[in-house]
Formats: sequence, C-alpha cells, structure tokens
Amino acid sequence: MNIIVCRDYQAVSDQAAEKVITLLQKNPYAKLGLATGSSPIGLYDRLIKAYQSKQITFKDVMTFNLDEYVGIPRTHAQSYYSFMNEHLFKHVDIDPSHIHIPDNDVNRIDEIAKEYNRLLKKNPLDLQVLGIGSNGHIGFNEPGTPLGNETFVVHLDERTRKDNSRFFGSLEEVPKYAITMGIKNIMRAKELVLIASGKEKADVVYQMIHGEVTADLPASILQLHPNCTIILDEPAASKIQEK
Ligand code: F6R
Repeated sequence: MNIIVCRDYQAVSDQAAEKVITLLQKNPYAKLGLATGSSPIGLYDRLIKAYQSKQITFKDVMTFNLDEYVGIPRTHAQSYYSFMNEHLFKHVDIDPSHIHIPDNDVNRIDEIAKEYNRLLKKNPLDLQVLGIGSNGHIGFNEPGTPLGNETFVVHLDERTRKDNSRFFGSLEEVPKYAITMGIKNIMRAKELVLIASGKEKADVVYQMIHGEVTADLPASILQLHPNCTIILDEPAASKIQEK
C-alpha cells in the first residue's frame, strides 16, 4: 500500500485527481471504476475543471460504478445513477453509452448482477476509485462478505444505512438492499485509489492498514493489491500517525 497523507480534503482531492488525470492523458480509452458518497465529490470537481481547461477529455473513456441501491428508482435523487450524473457526467463530454452503473430493476436483479459481472470481465479496469465505510466496507461489501465474491445483491448493514441516512429524509427511507461489485472484481483493477477524510474514518483506516486481512473488515484485502494508493487527510490518518 502506498499511503499519502494530505493537509485537508482539498489536497486529498487534488492528489486523487492527479492520478486520474495522468491516466487519462496517457490512455484516453481508459476504463475507470467509480465510487459515490461524500469522499470522491472533490475529485469529481477537479476532473470537471480539468475537462473545462482541456487537460482531459472523457470522449473515449468508459466508466463502471461500484454499486447502486435496490428499492428506489434510478430517477430518485439519492440513486447512484442520479449522483453520478449530478457530480460528474452531466458536466463532461462522456458518451452516455460508455457509462455503466448496475441497473436496479428488482424483478431481474440476479440476472443484472450476472450481466454486470460479465461486463467487468470483458473490460478490465485501469483504475478503480474507492471510499471506505465506517464499518470497513468497500463498494457495498459489508463485513462478513466472502472475499471471493463477484457482483452480487447485498443486504445492507444497519451501520451503513445509518451512515447513509444523512442523504435521505430518515433512516426508514434508506434502501435495505444494493447491488455491488464484489471484492474479487475490485481486486482485478490494475490500480486502486482509496480516498478517506475526517476523524470518524481514523479507526477504520488504521484497521485497514495495520489490521489482519479479514472478511470482517473487507477493506483490509487492499493490503494484498500490488498497486493501491490510500489518500488521507490528517484527521483520517491520525491513528496511523500516532503509531
Ligand atoms: C460508494 C461506495 C461506498 C462508499 C463508502 C464511503 O459507491 O461504494 O463504499 O465509498 O460508504 O462513503 P462516504 O464517502 O460517503 O463516507
């Protein structure tokens, strides 16, 4: 693991953006794995600026998102489909047919998981962006998920639902299920970039880096990836710095 500690969230976002910008300048046909949530918002802002200043184009880039809620329509303001559109896609020149976010039609969700998995196998990811849940999840691979899983439908942890209730009106409105890339899909990406900020992530970041590799803390598997960069602000790095 390559660990970068930055002064603040702005600097974290700059570092992460530099990685993506360098990749897109080298390979305009790159296949990018993307995450949602608070962590990558600053990164996406910077990518939009880099596009506007003509440093990069998304014309030939293909994107693959980690996950999507099941139980709310894609048109819902809190769906990851809406999130990606709002925070990145509608601001850049990406070809809509190059955007991949797992569909969430509950009537054919198992088939959708299989299709997404086939798609990921056909399109090895050059770089996967990740955040980390306060319970150690990556994507929606909750504690206890087998580390060999490929795309699957997950029953969300209560802790995840509580954490994410900040985006919804109430806890009851947070979906109970989601579809997510499995750990195995994530580990196949050539490069991983995980972003974490804030002191509420300090304990889980410490465990991810210094704890044993265990399904109880899925992000710990990243210790075994050959090209993984963890980008932290000082509060998120506070426990590892104490050590
Ligand atoms: C989102 C995702 C999740 C988040 C994690 C952290 O697509 O896969 O693993 O990265 O829950 O979320 P934030 O960044 O909101 O703290």
